[in-house]
Amino acid sequence: MIPKVLIIDDEEHMCWALKRAMEQENYQAITSTSGKEGIKLLKDKGPSLVLLDLKMPEMDGLEVLKVIKEIHPKIPVIMITAHGTIETAIEAMKLGALDYITKPFDLDELKMVVKQALKYSELVSEVSFLRSELSKKYGTIIGESQAIKEVILLIERVATTNATVLITGESGTGKEVTALAIHQASERKDYQFVPVNCAALPEQLLESELFGHEKGAFTGAVALKRGRFELADKGTIFLDEIAEMSPKMQAKLLRVLQEKNFERVGGTDTLNVNVRVVAATNRNIHEMVKNGEFREDLYYRLNVIHIHLPPLRERKEDIHLLANNFIKKYMMGTYPVTGINSDAMELLEKYSWPGNIRELQNIIERAVIICRGDTIMPEHLPKELQRQVSADKNVLEGIVNFPEEGVSLEQVERELILKALEKSESNQTKAAQLLGITRSALIYRSQKYNINI
Ligand SMILES: Nc1ncnc2c1ncn2[C@@H]1O[C@H](COP(=O)(O)OP(=O)(O)OP(=O)(O)O)[C@@H](O)[C@H]1O
Ligand SMILES: [Mg+2]
Repeated sequence: MIPKVLIIDDEEHMCWALKRAMEQENYQAITSTSGKEGIKLLKDKGPSLVLLDLKMPEMDGLEVLKVIKEIHPKIPVIMITAHGTIETAIEAMKLGALDYITKPFDLDELKMVVKQALKYSELVSEVSFLRSELSKKYGTIIGESQAIKEVILLIERVATTNATVLITGESGTGKEVTALAIHQASERKDYQFVPVNCAALPEQLLESELFGHEKGAFTGAVALKRGRFELADKGTIFLDEIAEMSPKMQAKLLRVLQEKNFERVGGTDTLNVNVRVVAATNRNIHEMVKNGEFREDLYYRLNVIHIHLPPLRERKEDIHLLANNFIKKYMMGTYPVTGINSDAMELLEKYSWPGNIRELQNIIERAVIICRGDTIMPEHLPKELQRQVSADKNVLEGIVNFPEEGVSLEQVERELILKALEKSESNQTKAAQLLGITRSALIYRSQKYNINI
């Protein structure tokens, strides 16, 4: 497809010169000497790029730009400014212009800027196309570690059923994305996905949020309100932070799961719904059941299928892929960041990621914003991250006085497990915490190295 460039400049000879330059590049060019007419051409002709003069009588460039961005938010606009109006040019960039060029300019320079802008916008639309294709398929689950592959497989399998799913994992590991992916891969995808954060509301409010209420059910219930279960009919309800539910609400939920019906607060009609329930928690809910803090019968109803999302530090293979994906996601403006250098990547791979994927995403977003070249370097990463990585390194050097003859990794691991057990006075849970692994991983490894625990 031949790119079509719309030129808006009040000076006729300028329009003419720009048109000629564009045609030399084999683009189509259309011109207009007024903002109003230019906007009309934008609607009628669907250009791929706009060259817009900043100083024009009647409607000036900034105003025209605002209208253009309302009609067509993604179209690349290059501002043409007179020397000395850089401040206005910056304002134009904030309003969504992609770039600017100052008069008098060299035609080759202009051609270069236009070429890059076209390439950039092509890339942006390609990225957003790929992203939407991908999210149609699996939500946005990214990863190629064995652990995440198993999760994706499980998602595909449960999507075809109506079984209740319990998703566990630390904060930021992707519990909500996983729930959404199940919904989108299921036949329920054309109906609603309704998330409810069970920890965010006090008991009474949560009850009327989930089940709705009749008009006059309590003070303040001025109108009938449909609950989230009704909204999610034929779709999926996502009960986030389920472990924080009060005993009373646990009992109510159990009934919905068993009977598939409920009443609105203050109501007598029994409502039947067809809802797939997906619940999530970052707590050790199994432990809570054992301690009597969560109903066992409800737990078994919820836990028909269990998906556990491992923390990022246990699937470091995914960091590379995730980081590059987030770069594409946040890439924008005139400094398109396209990669990470190996030192910075090494830092990312060594960090322990207490906030998991959400933390990685935030750190990359920040790096893309402050990076002024095309590659993220260590200095674009937060100081805390750099500090923690080097502190961890010192810890290791402290424990392992590297012997001349070398040492096997397995020996080191065995040493570390012994030290952790010693420090925790053989308390397995504490030792596992010190090592940043699960208790079952500790038991498995101890057996592997013949350590009695
Ligand atoms: N596998 C993944 N691929 C790409 N992005 C992901 C993946 N997992 C999580 N994310 C992103 O990380 C962020 C956190 O994910 P999500 O909100 O699903 O986590 P969570 O487990 O629900 O966290 P919390 O317990 O804090 O609510 C989101 O922005 C999400 O898009
Ligand atoms: Mg969440």
